[in-house]
Amino acid sequence: MTDQRLPWGRLIVALDLGNEKEIEKVVEILAPKKAKFKIGSIAFTKFGPALVQKFTKKNIDIFVDLKLYDIPNTMKETARVITEIGCWAFTVHIKAGADALAAVRDEVKRAAEEKNIRKPLILGVTELTSSKASPEDVLKLVTLANDAKLDGVIASAQEAPAIKAKFDNLKVITPGIRSPFDAKGDQQRITTAKTAFESGADYIVVGRPIISKKDYLKAAEEVLSA
Ligand code: C5P
Repeated sequence: MTDQRLPWGRLIVALDLGNEKEIEKVVEILAPKKAKFKIGSIAFTKFGPALVQKFTKKNIDIFVDLKLYDIPNTMKETARVITEIGCWAFTVHIKAGADALAAVRDEVKRAAEEKNIRKPLILGVTELTSSKASPEDVLKLVTLANDAKLDGVIASAQEAPAIKAKFDNLKVITPGIRSPFDAKGDQQRITTAKTAFESGADYIVVGRPIISKKDYLKAAEEVLSA
């Protein structure tokens, strides 16, 4: 039996798979639970915007994680295209700088208003959870994201309390989630789902601990319970 008390709406499943049938299977099983899904560089490069729209037209929330990092004009134009594809959220690297972030923010607002479509959340990547960055490095980047009026940031659970204490308006999205039985893989700053939520994460991003298992539902329940 599925435990309905689990925070399904705060789970973002990373669809880091190169097989469309497998991606569809993960979504078919976990979308009814109200999980959200992340399409990153692997699936987006292979299947493109059509994969995003296949799910968004069924009212499934998709997070387009392309981690934009470029000159302001290129970031702005790409952000416009992503907004027009339609998604719940997308990512930019905060390190791209204040000008690029402001250009993206203004363009997304303009494009969404012009086309009368939902404005996606703009999420700033701080330091990758596979890196050994210090909390101070992360806080500096979060300050820049807040100044640029982004909607949220991607950060590990270790930094989430400090981020929420200073910027409670910013959503915190936390990857690097592992239950005690999972392989750490390339992630450095890992925590369990419960610890991430207790630390202030609004959403957790989970890939391999779910998508590498045979029973996706059971794996997702285990991650959310640990
Ligand atoms: O398989 P795993 O649970 O480690 O997947 C984590 C996902 O979150 C991957 O899609 C990865 O690209 C993404 N991510 C991350 N660290 C960040 C930002 C995104 O691991 N800081």
